[in-house]
Amino acid sequence: MPGSRTVRTVADVMSSPAITGRASETIAEVSQRMAERKKGSVVIVDGDRPIGILTERDLVRFNATGAAASETKVSEFMTQPVDCAAPDLSVQEAFHEFAEHGYRHLPVVDDGKLVGVVSLRALMNVAQIQPVVHPSNIEAPPGLEGVIVAETSVGDVRGLEGFYHYRQYNAVELADKLPLEDVWHLLFEGHLPSAAEREAFAAEVNPMRTVPSTVAKLLPSLAASSKTVMEGVRSAMSMVGAAEGFQPTLDITREERRRNALQLCAVMPTLIMAIHRLQQGQQPIAPRDDLGYGANYLWMLTGAEYDKDLGRAVEQYQITTIDHGFNASTFTSRVICSSGADVAAAVVGGMGALSGPLHGGAPSRALALLEDIGTVENARPYLTEHVAKGEKIMGFGHRVYKTTDPRSEFLRGVAERIQADKLEFAKVVEQTVVDVLAELKPGRNLYANVEFYAGVVMDHCGLPPELFTPTFASSRVIGWCANILEQAADNRIIRPSAKYVGPPPPQPVPDP
Ligand SMILES: CC(C)(COP(=O)(O)OP(=O)(O)OC[C@H]1O[C@@H](n2cnc3c(N)ncnc32)[C@H](O)[C@@H]1OP(=O)(O)O)[C@@H](O)C(=O)NCCC(=O)NCCS
Repeated sequence: MPGSRTVRTVADVMSSPAITGRASETIAEVSQRMAERKKGSVVIVDGDRPIGILTERDLVRFNATGAAASETKVSEFMTQPVDCAAPDLSVQEAFHEFAEHGYRHLPVVDDGKLVGVVSLRALMNVAQIQPVVHPSNIEAPPGLEGVIVAETSVGDVRGLEGFYHYRQYNAVELADKLPLEDVWHLLFEGHLPSAAEREAFAAEVNPMRTVPSTVAKLLPSLAASSKTVMEGVRSAMSMVGAAEGFQPTLDITREERRRNALQLCAVMPTLIMAIHRLQQGQQPIAPRDDLGYGANYLWMLTGAEYDKDLGRAVEQYQITTIDHGFNASTFTSRVICSSGADVAAAVVGGMGALSGPLHGGAPSRALALLEDIGTVENARPYLTEHVAKGEKIMGFGHRVYKTTDPRSEFLRGVAERIQADKLEFAKVVEQTVVDVLAELKPGRNLYANVEFYAGVVMDHCGLPPELFTPTFASSRVIGWCANILEQAADNRIIRPSAKYVGPPPPQPVPDP
């Protein structure tokens, strides 16, 4: 019976002989050999010496490129240099190696000669009968604060410096200088567009603003059965994925995933305004291909001539919120994508996470705070009372920023440029909140976050509070999608562990 004897070394569990290939062969030749022998890896050799390994994970990475397997050499996708295991390495030690480096297969080499391959699965089979404590059980801090869970080239936040960036550019500078579509192109394609690319991008995405007709028919009932715009749009986005036949990200090419993602990003603003207008008893206004992102957004709100400065102000807010590190909604989207689910599923999950008041649900509450405070004289007593009661002041504090949020500073400047109605009062309240929190919550470094001046700007641009969180989502979808595309291109399912703290099992199950 397998496992009835004590298995001690790699030699006991390796498969031998190893399937081998050469770096000069094509992916098609080698992957066919892998499939025929039902193995998860091929060791790439030069004579007897292993020089690399091609695994199922490498093939997934290769498939994501959409290149032809019969024209691509193994050397381009194999993992190298390759570590090797000795046949007399104990199973315990081998397990540690695998866990520490994230290996799934290792060539086994004896005296410089390849003698087999050991897989994580083979080690795990042994682990099941010899109880092994998982060597990589690391307890993460609550809220995963500070834990690095992935590599990304989409962007990052440097909390202590009050700086964040999209790709290699300062995000605030992008918002200051460029139209949203350029930044969208940067996130999807990895570079800012040339003039020709800008034109081609607009020609590709602007027609995608139109809601597919099958979904458009459903919007009145979605609007009627939802309490908030976010709820209606969340359902509508899911319907777009279904109506357009989105397939699991695992089964489609990067190009198909990109098109799905583009469509969701382009249609989201239209759905937001359509659901909002229907909830107000008005008919949706069709998007206009001839307008830029922010201008089209305001056009769909009223259908009236819009003020260019206000259109630009909304668009600048939307640029600042496109992406922001591994925030809750971006992480959610990546987790869903990591299971191979379709792009719409991952975006809808992101919307769910964003809708919470601790994430994207705060700007309308921040504006409500100004209204509740009402007068300059009331600011200090009001704030002191609420903080003393243990309440959170909406629009303040941040998990990553321990200094001023650069988005808040930028939006204060935007509010100044458009001479927003509530700006002067907001500035007084901001300073009072910072002072009160410094007194009552010393050392926590709490400052205004993106949401505080976002409400002031959006209010002045004519957006009602029920559209604040949807407007945040309208551009954050671009960040989610850039992350989804990155996750899908080099995917491994995100599957952490939890520490069980309930009554010790197994308790006897009571008789019925
Ligand atoms: C953004 C936020 C969720 C970050 O949460 P976090 O990193 O988990 O920080 P915590 O909630 O643990 O806060 C740390 C301390 O600061 C206090 N604090 C944080 N934000 C606060 C706020 N807005 N008002 C009052 N106190 C606040 C907490 O009460 C806590 O105090 P304690 O040490 O006495 O327990 C949090 O600051 C918050 O809830 N802000 C208000 C909601 C908001 O504006 N969200 C939009 C974010 S862009």
